[in-house]
Amino acid sequence: MPQERPVEDLTEADAKAELDRLAKAIAAADQAYHQNDAPDITDAEYDALKRRNRAIESRFPELKRDDSPSDSVGAAPADGFGKIRHEIRMLSLGNAFDDSDVTDFDARIRRYLGLPGDAPLTYTAEPKIDGLSLSLRYEAGVLVYAATRGDGETGEDVTANARTIAQIPQKLTGAPAVLEVRGEVYMTHAAFADLNANGPRTFANPRNAAAGSLRQLDAEITRARPLSFFAYAWGVVSEPLAATQFEALERLASFGFSVNPLTRLCLSPADLLTHYRRIEGDRPDLGYDIDGVVYKVNDLALQARLGFRATTPRWAIAHKFPAETAWTRLEAIDIQVGRTGALSPVARLAPVNVGGVLVSNATLHNEDYIAGRDSQGEPIRGGRDIRVGDWVQVYRAGDVIPKIADVDLTRRPADSTPYVFETTCPQCGSAAVREPGDSTHRCTGGLICPAQAVEKLKHFVSRNAFDIDGLGAKQIEMFFADDVLSIREPADIFTLARRDSSNLGKLKNRDGFGERSATKLFAAIEERRTIPLARLLFGLGIRHLGEVAAADLARHFGSWDALISTVDRASPAAERAVAADSAELVERARAADEGRRAELKKTRDAIWDDPPLPDGARTAWDDLIGIEGVGSVLAVSLVTTLSQPGERRSINRLIAELTEIQPPEARATQSPVAGKTVVFTGTLTRMTRAEAKARAEALGAKVAGSVSAKTDILVAGEAAGSKATKAEALGITVMDEDAWLALIGG
Ligand code: IVH
Repeated sequence: MPQERPVEDLTEADAKAELDRLAKAIAAADQAYHQNDAPDITDAEYDALKRRNRAIESRFPELKRDDSPSDSVGAAPADGFGKIRHEIRMLSLGNAFDDSDVTDFDARIRRYLGLPGDAPLTYTAEPKIDGLSLSLRYEAGVLVYAATRGDGETGEDVTANARTIAQIPQKLTGAPAVLEVRGEVYMTHAAFADLNANGPRTFANPRNAAAGSLRQLDAEITRARPLSFFAYAWGVVSEPLAATQFEALERLASFGFSVNPLTRLCLSPADLLTHYRRIEGDRPDLGYDIDGVVYKVNDLALQARLGFRATTPRWAIAHKFPAETAWTRLEAIDIQVGRTGALSPVARLAPVNVGGVLVSNATLHNEDYIAGRDSQGEPIRGGRDIRVGDWVQVYRAGDVIPKIADVDLTRRPADSTPYVFETTCPQCGSAAVREPGDSTHRCTGGLICPAQAVEKLKHFVSRNAFDIDGLGAKQIEMFFADDVLSIREPADIFTLARRDSSNLGKLKNRDGFGERSATKLFAAIEERRTIPLARLLFGLGIRHLGEVAAADLARHFGSWDALISTVDRASPAAERAVAADSAELVERARAADEGRRAELKKTRDAIWDDPPLPDGARTAWDDLIGIEGVGSVLAVSLVTTLSQPGERRSINRLIAELTEIQPPEARATQSPVAGKTVVFTGTLTRMTRAEAKARAEALGAKVAGSVSAKTDILVAGEAAGSKATKAEALGITVMDEDAWLALIGG
């Protein structure tokens, strides 16, 4: 560092030179810190650089650089890139693994659209490029930004890097005023080989190399690494590109983008499969990695009708190439304890390369799988069990966790013994029980089990839950094990972040934490004191409560208080439901004849009514299970979890730390059915049930499965039965399909 002269003594030329030097030094420190996870100066030194930079700038404001490091303070997110919110989310694709998944895909689409099997339906099929997706926004034909996918909602601003990619045009002619082009950045085999031979480090595969090269804070590094780009989709457009997917790709090509030359129109699932085989055959000679073929409904109007599930479009699917396999030795079987107490056996393997990825762990599912039988007790793998010391076949498909597919008995060591499954939790010593009808052993330790507690915390901070920047699985393990920080449950994360210096001090000097990163982490935690209700619910890690159900519950109740009051009222009924539903009853009912079934129904009713439930319990319970997407299994799990005193105390502590639990975004509040609870019944003729539900929800309505006092509208299709009668009795508006369509505007 240059000798520090008082700022007052600097000449203008000195100041300019020093600002240049400081900008470089700060950028280099940022890079070392963010990019390589290897800070090369102390936090104090870094702060000193920034202070000096600011001091000089305030004396010579006209010398302030356009890219002044002062401006990136605070704005820079954890990993050093700015963030960009995608106006239209960037989604992923559902997967098909075999031919029948492809015919199912076609059948599902036809069912959803109500199209008969023989009605024409055209698809596009194109290679699935194995790179990373990028969204490019053009305004008046000029590239304004490039953003990575990130979590789908918010990505990283990699504009400067994208500008160095030759296949990304800086200017377009003839394009709509606003156009977001989406596609894949990838690295060719040739560029990859060259980079690994001459570059700074060895990358595992072209995809990692492409990701590492694009996400460089110094765009000049990106420039030196030849990346390529294929366009295959779009986000915001100020006017439609075309009427079909295929024509839209042609238009993208006319603007100057590369679109994949192997894209074809296909008229049937059989056609799709033919093209798939052809691309699979071409795969070794393409010169870049692809990991499957993407099929999309060609007609964009149909795409719009089909819409999206939680994270994937209904109108597209990725048909993956078959899994890769390899043989290796099974060195040990470890038991991992999950968030809900499930014990999962994990195979520890002699590391082996499976289709380009080094694998040393694989899942063994459960006790039966290891023993060589399925959940019905039927033999799998010809009944061969798996033992420590065996040679096993590892199977890896896409991004899913590798599995053990088979075992080679000819190489089994003579002294091996069958694997005996644990009956106690290896983490807390509590009994691990396997209930009849369940394939999984579960730790009964609940909150006292450290493994469950840690996994719950990891889930709590995960991407689709509280998503706290700088607080990932690694930090959670560290903080959990640390007696001073003592993060044992979600609320502790927020108490840690209280802005007092003693907490900062506690965190500082812990592995990898300096003043700067600690302050940043605390800010990230503070930010999450405001959280959407759906994320909160998902973050609690309640068994069976996934993201979609969490969103359904949030939409239905609108607030934590409304939800918890229903749950509390439903609590006595949940116990009854469990009793009435008990496995034995169900089992017997299946076997029994009609008369016997009637008798069982009486037993069930008796269980429900005797002794009488407190007022409102049954109504609250019915309200809960009446929510479309919430079945009794989830309802029982929700109510029992929230009724456990320990759990409840922990959740209440968390709620007390939060500033605001945001209601779900009022979707389409303008619509005439926003906020209304709608039930569909009978046969709909102009749309399918699934489409009707999706559209109603898009207009802000809640769709319920059964009629109750809370129902606002019953849409009765043909041959509507008891629901219509009940609705009329309750004085609920009943309308037919045409009236409904007229109401929502066709
Ligand atoms: S379409 C809404 N087409 O695969 C659907 N994606 O597994 C947008 N990908 O995130 C994606 N090649 O990064 C589409 N020809 C292709 C693709 C492709 C590769 C990637 C993309 C996506 C991922 C999903």
